[in-house]
Amino acid sequence: MIIPIKGVFSKEEVAQFRAHLDSAPWQDGRLSAGSQAQSQKQNSQLNVDSLVARKLSDKILSVLARQPTFVSAALPLKILPPMFNRYGSGDGYGFHVDNAVRIVPGSSIRIRTDLSATIFFSEPEQYEGGELEIESSCGNQLIKLGAGDMILYPSTSLHRVRPVCKGQRFASFFWIQSMIRDHEQRQILFDLDQSVQSLTIQHGHDHTDVVRLSAAYHRLIRQLADT
Ligand code: NI
Repeated sequence: MIIPIKGVFSKEEVAQFRAHLDSAPWQDGRLSAGSQAQSQKQNSQLNVDSLVARKLSDKILSVLARQPTFVSAALPLKILPPMFNRYGSGDGYGFHVDNAVRIVPGSSIRIRTDLSATIFFSEPEQYEGGELEIESSCGNQLIKLGAGDMILYPSTSLHRVRPVCKGQRFASFFWIQSMIRDHEQRQILFDLDQSVQSLTIQHGHDHTDVVRLSAAYHRLIRQLADT
């Protein structure tokens, strides 16, 4: 399941991010790639220990904690602190699958990567190429969203960033360990929760069916969730 979430950040917030990102100290992205990915990867990344990376990463985490579609779709248990990359002209990242387990930098906390996320910080018209291409059962999908929008996809998907041929593509990327390990179960819970939300708008919190469906949702979470 590939889920776009529009407008996670407003255009004003994007401009604040970009003011930091444009003047940040970038380093070679291959420093953080595994041996298999190193030959595939050409981009720049922010040093995760830098003050600017930590500040922007914390800002993303605090917004995501209150983002209803993200919470409903990901049911996050642990989130790897968001990182930042920049693809300039000629940069790209060949087809790969992300590592199954990542360690939170500076700690011994391990995160199983159930979901991968990208938040775009460049508008689509600011660069050519640079689409996130994700292999899926319905064929490959090309993702190029507006600045401030986010895409969530299963970390088991083969994916790449197609070469940028003009301009610069800024983004944040990170991984989520979900309370629900199984993608199919998480999808069912997401569909159920989205229906409860829309029925609540139509009929109100107190409607018998809304109460019953909502209770069923929470009973399923109790049965299925790691906490
Ligand atoms: Ni990747």
